[in-house]
Amino acid sequence: MDYFRYRQGRLFCEEIPVEDLARDHGTPLYVYSARTILEHYHKLREAFTPPAPAPWQPILCYSIKANSNLSILRLMAREGSGFDVVSGGEIYRALKVGADPRKIVYAGVGKTDEEIEAGLRANLLLFNVESEEELENTNRLAGRMGKVADVALRINPDVDPQTHTYIATGKRETKFGVDLERARRVFERAKRLSHVRMTGLHVHIGSQITKSDPYADTLKRVAEFVPEVRAMGHPLEWLDMGGGFGIWYKEKLARSAREIADACLPLVLKTGLKLLLEPGRFIVGNAGILLARVLYVKESGDKRFVICDAGMNDLIRPALYGAYHRIWPAATDGSVSGEAPDEERWPGPAVASDVVGPICESGDFLAKDRRLPLVRRGDLLAVFSAGAYGYVMASHYNSYPKPAEVLVRGTQARVVSRRETYEDVIAAERIESLEPGARGED
Ligand code: LLP
Repeated sequence: MDYFRYRQGRLFCEEIPVEDLARDHGTPLYVYSARTILEHYHKLREAFTPPAPAPWQPILCYSIKANSNLSILRLMAREGSGFDVVSGGEIYRALKVGADPRKIVYAGVGKTDEEIEAGLRANLLLFNVESEEELENTNRLAGRMGKVADVALRINPDVDPQTHTYIATGKRETKFGVDLERARRVFERAKRLSHVRMTGLHVHIGSQITKSDPYADTLKRVAEFVPEVRAMGHPLEWLDMGGGFGIWYKEKLARSAREIADACLPLVLKTGLKLLLEPGRFIVGNAGILLARVLYVKESGDKRFVICDAGMNDLIRPALYGAYHRIWPAATDGSVSGEAPDEERWPGPAVASDVVGPICESGDFLAKDRRLPLVRRGDLLAVFSAGAYGYVMASHYNSYPKPAEVLVRGTQARVVSRRETYEDVIAAERIESLEPGARGED
């Protein structure tokens, strides 16, 4: 469920017509619904809370990488959410909004010494360690600071999450975690390290997963491993099952939070460990849209192109993964009410169109051969399900400033990141002239 709905042909975000937001803040514009974010958070949390008398409450560590806007992080922190971070920059963001470090887990295959030290200074709940070398290094750095780091070892369970290869992480051939055989050796080794405590097991098998079986298969493998690790004397406390829960882009294929939880909770309970989750997309994906203005419509070759002011620099998912995002005019046939209709169910005339951006690449498209109503120059388009991996993956390619972001709650709308200027685009650069001849090169 989300709060982007048509009322007599006009698209609203909660109580505000999105046309008003585009008029006030310009385009391209990311628009987020706070109510949708909160609903998704609570839905997932409730689904994963074991039946009474519950031995624990799950901690949801919202995955910052999906949408790292500070106001969204603040909204989540106030709701009691924890955070999944993957870099020094994300630790910085989490602390900036006053997140509770005892609810922060830190993953990533390539943590630098500075980043690990920042995590140690902040006293994070768990370092999700991805290799034996990283474990040794964490132990060394913690020792130098007179600390003991709590660590979860990331296991690569060799499970196929049945998603796009670029975002599948749980298969043996990917760079993430260590296989079970090696995990045994790492736990053996860890017994002799005095500045790490092995308090958890971590898995994250991929993203946009629409089935429950891959999760259940993963948990079965992990559950079998738990007694072995305990027998080695490690004080296991946490099972971090990662994120990856899929959402609705094209068809409603994704399992509900309840369905995934039903498949997973019994297995988690069997381990006797407390549960951590790292959802990103599930929380924010359908809580955001990208608004774009149609600049030109042209026919060329056998195609109709709708050229708009948002492109792969604003939303790279279609170009990078061939991802499908529903696209619909923000003001449309007065008979349209409720959620954006399926392409096939549009009541009026429609034509196959490529929706493209202004970037000088043929890969710059938001949709290909999409049945769209006849749109004209000046019309406003809504690109749906753009709340996750949208703005965070935006770039300055072709020297476009990044778009603005607006957060809506009921009838209130706030700019939570202003539209960038050309000055912002060049802010880190220097104009240096390297004169020839200083060391006789030229
Ligand atoms: N935990 C870890 C360790 C992760 O690597 C990720 C995502 C998550 C949690 C959150 O996954 P989610 O619940 O959002 O699926 N840019 C791609 C997605 C990359 C996901 C990377 N890792 C996309 O646009 O589809």
